[in-house]
Amino acid sequence: SAPYIYLFQDFWCPTVYVEGVNKFQKHFDAKENDVFVASFPKSGTTWLKALTFAIVNHQQFSSFDHHPLLSSNPHELVPFPEFMYSYDLHDQILSLSNMSEPRLLGTHIPLPSLPESITKSNCKIIYICRNPFDTFVSAWEFFTKMKSESLPDLTLEEAFEKYCNGIMGFGPWWSHVLGYWKESLTRPDKVLFLKYEDLKEDTIFHVKRIADFLDSLITQGGESTTVIENIIRLCGFEKMKDLEVNKSGRIFDVVENKTFFRKGEIGDWMNYFSPSMIEKLSKIIEEKLGGSGLSFKYVTT
Ligand code: A3P
Repeated sequence: SAPYIYLFQDFWCPTVYVEGVNKFQKHFDAKENDVFVASFPKSGTTWLKALTFAIVNHQQFSSFDHHPLLSSNPHELVPFPEFMYSYDLHDQILSLSNMSEPRLLGTHIPLPSLPESITKSNCKIIYICRNPFDTFVSAWEFFTKMKSESLPDLTLEEAFEKYCNGIMGFGPWWSHVLGYWKESLTRPDKVLFLKYEDLKEDTIFHVKRIADFLDSLITQGGESTTVIENIIRLCGFEKMKDLEVNKSGRIFDVVENKTFFRKGEIGDWMNYFSPSMIEKLSKIIEEKLGGSGLSFKYVTT
């Protein structure tokens, strides 16, 4: 049978998305004021999409009682163009050109494979990553629940071996993270680099960073602390998980919205990793990230 994933332009692309990624690269027309939420899967994308949407639209939806985030999943409000192209969602592709501006979009594509129109324009990218241990566990739980026919049935150990070899959709994890990390150092006006653990541990500070980064795109910026606090409450894990839309809805037919909200913790990997797994992945990460200046928190402090 055909492989479910293969190495395409230096990253492991799930076979079902290869054509979509190609079309995205060829046809997507970035606007100067676009905002992309970029991530390796299972790093906190859903949360960052919600926060970004709430920040950018805070004037328009100043009443938090009737906010779109209460009735729509963040992946509907901030969609992934690469999946629109992969699933041939022509109506959605067409509607990209008249989305209200600034357009908010998501992507899992590694930086070197983004459409040129994104890298060459002044549009902004907010990147989120998460320690590689929790990212792996979150992915393992997510893909096990997806039960898609295009995915192989892997044991935790088999999935881990592949992950250590860089093989997971949009991986290797380290290349993905390092690509955006380096860009954020050379072009801090273009890429804001965030970590899930930081966002969890000092939410106000990092949400303010997002607001400052997007300030030029938001009419009447200068969000007050009260606005920021309301946004954080609106996007809180328990709050979002309990919404009807996130309990029962689906995205692209293949994913149930509820699978995006599992535990939302730092350190759940400890319930999954054996001592030899810890040793193996620690060594790889040390080797890959060494000298980059990039490091992660693995447990709650
Ligand atoms: P866990 O599986 O560890 O619980 P992504 O959005 O990139 O798919 O990442 C999913 C991870 O983010 C899941 O982690 C999920 O529980 C967590 N998550 C989703 N919404 C969140 C929120 N509002 N706040 C904090 N974490 C959230």
